[in-house]
Amino acid sequence: MVKAVVLGAAGGIGQPLSLLLKNSPLVDELALYDVVNAPGVAADLSHISTKAKVTGFLPADDGLEKTLTGADIVVIPAGIPRKPGMTRDDLFKINAGIVHDLVEGVAKFCPKAFVLVISNPVNSTVPIAAEVLKRHNVFDPKKLFGVTSLDVVRASTFVATVAGKADPSQITVPVVGGHSGETIVPLLSQATPAFSPKNDEERDALIKRIQFGGDEVVQAKQGTGSATLSMAYAGFKFAEALLKAAAGEKGIVEPTFVYLPGVEGGAEVQKAVGGLDFFAVPVELGPEGAAKATNPIGSISEHEKKLLEACISGLKGNIQKGVEFKKEAS
Ligand code: NAD
Ligand code: LMR
Repeated sequence: MVKAVVLGAAGGIGQPLSLLLKNSPLVDELALYDVVNAPGVAADLSHISTKAKVTGFLPADDGLEKTLTGADIVVIPAGIPRKPGMTRDDLFKINAGIVHDLVEGVAKFCPKAFVLVISNPVNSTVPIAAEVLKRHNVFDPKKLFGVTSLDVVRASTFVATVAGKADPSQITVPVVGGHSGETIVPLLSQATPAFSPKNDEERDALIKRIQFGGDEVVQAKQGTGSATLSMAYAGFKFAEALLKAAAGEKGIVEPTFVYLPGVEGGAEVQKAVGGLDFFAVPVELGPEGAAKATNPIGSISEHEKKLLEACISGLKGNIQKGVEFKKEAS
C-alpha cells in the first residue's frame, strides 16, 4: 500500500500534480495539504474512478500530522512562485521558512518517507530540508531529493526542436548541477542519441534556453506565476520513477539534486565538482531511494568544463545559504 502526499496541493503545481498521482496505479492513498482549499481539491479528485483514496487537510485540527502520518512519499511544491524580474533566490525569504516547517512535520510524522522538494530556490531549500532532518536525527540522504527533472524535460524538448526530431521523449540530455540559471549545466556532449549543434552560436543559444527556460514561462505568464503544468508533468515523472524503483523495478536512472556524501558514488562526483555537498546528477534509483550517483563529469567537453566552473561558484553560495538558515524563533 503506497501513501503519497502533496504539500501545497491547492497551488498551480499542486493541483495538476495531485491529478497525475490520483491517476497513477502505483498510488493507493493520496493525502493533500495546503493552507487553503486542500479539502476542496481532494473532494474534486475523489470523484475520479481510480483506486487511490483521497483526503485533504488544512493546518487546523492537526492537519499536517493527519496528512503525513503513514506517508511513503512526500512531494513539496508549497511556496510562492516568481514574478517577472525576480530570481529564484528572491523567493528564499518566504519559501525557506515554509519548507523548514513542512520538513519538520516530515521529521516528526513520517521520518522514513521519500521527500521530493520542488519549492524554489531548490539549490537552498534542499540543504534546509537536510538540516531539519539532521536536527531531528532522521536524515537519510538516500531519501531526500531536489526535483530538477523539469530541466531535463526542457532539454529533451529544446534539443529535439533544434535537431528537427519529431519525438522529444526519445532524446535524453543529462543536466547536472543545480536548478537556477548558470547552475543548470546541460551536457549536450552526452545526449543520446548523439547530437552536435551546427556551430557555437547554435550551441550557446540552446544552452541558454535550457538554463533560462523558467524565465520564458515567467515572462509569458505576465506576473501570474511560473511553470506549473510542465512542472507537474516533470515532478510526477520523477515520483513515478521512484515508486517503480521502490517496488523493485531495476535500471531506473533519473537526474536529481542529492546530498553527495550520503549516496554511493557521491564521493567521486564531489571530487569532480569542487567538493560541493549537493549536486544534481543522474542517480540510479532503488528500493531505498538513491542507490548510486553516476558521474558524467569525467567525459565532458572543454566548453562544458567552463559551464561547470560557473555552476560550482554559484551553487556553493546557494547551498551555504540554505545550510546556514535558522528559522527565527525555532
Ligand atoms: P502557487 O502559488 O500556485 O502554489 C503554491 C501553494 O503553496 C499555494 O496553494 C499556497 O497556498 C501553498 N502554501 C503556501 N504556504 C504553505 C504552507 N506553509 N503549507 C502548505 N502549503 C502552503 O505556486 P506554484 O506555481 O505551484 O509554485 C510553487 C513553488 O514551486 C514555487 O516556489 C516555485 O518557484 C516552485 N517551482 C519549482 C520548480 C522546479 O523545477 N523545482 C518548477 C516550477 C516551480
Ligand atoms: C522553473 O524552472 O520553471 C521553475 O524553477 C520556476 C521558475 O521560477 O522559473
